[in-house]
Amino acid sequence: MDPEKIDFYNLGFNYIETKTMFVSDYKDGKWDEGRLEPFGSFEISPAAGILNYGQGIFEGMKALKAKTDVIVLFRPEENAKRLTESAKRILIPPYDEDKFVKAVKQVVKENKAYIPPYDSGGALYIRPIMIGNGPVLGVAPVEEYKLIIFTVPVGPYFPEGFQGINLEISKKYTRAAPGGTGYAKTCCNYAGTMKPAKETKQKGFAQVIYLDAVNKEYIDEVGTANFFAMINGKLATPKSTGTILPGITRKSVIEIALEKLNLTVEERDISYKELFEDSCTETFCTGTAAVITPISSVQIDDKKRTFGSGEPGEITTKLYEILTGIQRLEIEDEFGWVVKV
Ligand code: PLP
Ligand code: COI
Repeated sequence: MDPEKIDFYNLGFNYIETKTMFVSDYKDGKWDEGRLEPFGSFEISPAAGILNYGQGIFEGMKALKAKTDVIVLFRPEENAKRLTESAKRILIPPYDEDKFVKAVKQVVKENKAYIPPYDSGGALYIRPIMIGNGPVLGVAPVEEYKLIIFTVPVGPYFPEGFQGINLEISKKYTRAAPGGTGYAKTCCNYAGTMKPAKETKQKGFAQVIYLDAVNKEYIDEVGTANFFAMINGKLATPKSTGTILPGITRKSVIEIALEKLNLTVEERDISYKELFEDSCTETFCTGTAAVITPISSVQIDDKKRTFGSGEPGEITTKLYEILTGIQRLEIEDEFGWVVKV
């Protein structure tokens, strides 16, 4: 799409075609050097591993414009590491992490005209995918893979933005089980969350909070983001033991809470019942797409808990200001997280 025709000030989280993508192929036991190509379709065998058995993974990152129009990435080496971990879980040959970060920078530069202006609050979402495109019949890894990195200009993931969202705790659906692929960013993990998301949206909720698959008691995460709660004055978040995606925003929020807000942080099992007690004062969720989104209320069956007056809580707001301040070069980046393109 012609960047001149994009209304950068009213973007949602929707697909818009941009100019250039990066493509690298794995054949004969190695990844090639990769190249920039015009964004476009490619042929794929009906017997491809990704089409038949879902052998594919992806990442999500953002390039932002700072006030000075400098273009920045947030901890891209963490996405590279997670891509490697996801790849290992479903037997995709990992991609060199330094080359990955270099390729991300190249794609961002090539699509510079699509990065929303600083004052729009938007970002250029970067979507790396790694798929098994070689043919296969039995359930087994294929011999050929593709890494593609494309970009899309985006606004807020939840239309509510920083207003706060209402979430439904699901006792019906789970997202990941111990020993499964919950910690990896595999395509299949998301296919199973579409029906629960559709059903909960029909009831007026923004998303589902998933509970652990064994006890249906402890919070795992929100469909596309990690979960946090202020309980007894401490910041609590579900521990990362294989069923939740180890979010880069999650990791950053924990570090900010410890270093900048001097909070006690607990990575532990959180029963959903704790959210209905007065000791739980704020909840929010985190992710590249979701940034820090305050949770106004949670509901399970007919039982609803609204946090305060439904406004973003004090700690949630502070964490949001610090995180986005660092990301847009408005607050000194003591952690060394921001990478200029
Ligand atoms: N959990 C799930 C299921 C996600 O899809 C995401 C988004 O990538 C996250 C959590 C948050 O991860 P991150 O902060 O690295 O974007
Ligand atoms: C992200 O936050 O980058 C995600 O991948 C979440 C979702 C759009 C799948």
